[in-house]
Amino acid sequence: MTKSSQPEGRPPAFPYLADPRRKAMRKLHCERLPLNKLAEQYGTPLYVYSGSTVRSRYQAFDAAFDSIPHLVCYSVKANSNLSILRMLSKMRSGFDIVSGGELERVLVADKKAAERVVFSGVGKTAPEMDLALRSGILMFNVESTSEVELLANRASRLKKHARVAVRVNPDVFAETHPYISTGLRKHKFGVPIEEARGLYRTIARHRYLKASGVSVHIGSQITSVGPFGDAMQRVADFVGVLRSDGHQIDYIDAGGGLGIQYHEAALDTFPEKAKTYAVSISKPLAELGVTLLLEPGRSIIGPAGALLTRVLYHKQNDGKQFLIVDAAMNDLIRPTLYSAHHEIVPVDLAPDAKTATYDVVGPICETGDFFARDRELPVTGEGQLLAILDAGAYGMSIASNYNTRSRPPEVLVDGKKVRLIRRRETVRDQVRIERKSL
Ligand code: LLP
Repeated sequence: MTKSSQPEGRPPAFPYLADPRRKAMRKLHCERLPLNKLAEQYGTPLYVYSGSTVRSRYQAFDAAFDSIPHLVCYSVKANSNLSILRMLSKMRSGFDIVSGGELERVLVADKKAAERVVFSGVGKTAPEMDLALRSGILMFNVESTSEVELLANRASRLKKHARVAVRVNPDVFAETHPYISTGLRKHKFGVPIEEARGLYRTIARHRYLKASGVSVHIGSQITSVGPFGDAMQRVADFVGVLRSDGHQIDYIDAGGGLGIQYHEAALDTFPEKAKTYAVSISKPLAELGVTLLLEPGRSIIGPAGALLTRVLYHKQNDGKQFLIVDAAMNDLIRPTLYSAHHEIVPVDLAPDAKTATYDVVGPICETGDFFARDRELPVTGEGQLLAILDAGAYGMSIASNYNTRSRPPEVLVDGKKVRLIRRRETVRDQVRIERKSL
């Protein structure tokens, strides 16, 4: 056993502050609220978000693009809680949606936000298109000839005009997990640039469609900015071609994908990172006079959230130590789905804590139900609270009811205030829409 290193310098959302009752101990907080208080009040597992972190990250991202006309369209799939959407909408954020359901959520959060919505996705259905057409969204990002035909058909039926961008596939490799890399020719996404030119001609033939933009999204959790710049250079060149064909291209949608630092304690250098990202994206577009659309998800909300969980049991099998916690893969699937790393830290931290090596696992009947394997943590006992960090993005939004587990509640902290923004689901909620006929 070794002495633990103090996880100093966590981003400001989840600081360790001295425990006023036991001076030597430090307690993990969300902003100014001790997490053990939240666990007592709302139970565990529990998603906790820092409101000021969401706001400051959004503002930093937005400010990074100051030098170019732009609209940040927060990617709803990362975290679609209504209070999060409302908070962002109040800051005039737009939204990137990929389903009619996400559009309905945005409209519930702010019925005036439709004009700031871009609709991406490879498989839009006619009812989803109808809802988006009636709502008057900003842009449809289309991905195939058949989709263009269907959209043209729905638009003329409804007599609604639609702005359209073709999502091009730039054939750029970006280092990330293969499941979330999207910008290569072999992926299902987008239209190869060489073929896209013809698709713009098709769009221009339809009375209710207007070819107004080019969109691109090369993947998610991309930590080096080079591939973004490469993709934008290809898009910029293509805009030149489209303009020479007579299309009036006013928008470029750069997609999302800026990664965050999941490993190790990281001081918050997000404003600088956002700036570097903004420079590499905007540079190739400098002369084009377009409005830039951006679709960040993870980089806004990821580090603002943690999943709070309590250790149910400690057990030892074949010399291996397991911490069985009350959260599971249904609550946060990233570790098992993408072999993703999330820092796990104790809520109560003793200054001289010894460490041990654990597998942190959930109660679900799958060996893949884990949050960490062979992880060195301060010695942890039954009943103790752990926080799984950087869980604000693609945590709750992918949570499921597997093993008939009810999804956790979500709370939003602002300073010393806390609001329950989604209550704990119950089994009654789950079975309400089922029938026991036969
Ligand atoms: N725009 C489009 C068209 C997208 O497909 C995505 C993410 C985004 C924007 C937002 O990307 P972000 O800024 O959040 O990287 N579940 C995975 C991530 C899937 C991303 C899907 N598309 C994970 O937990 O890592």
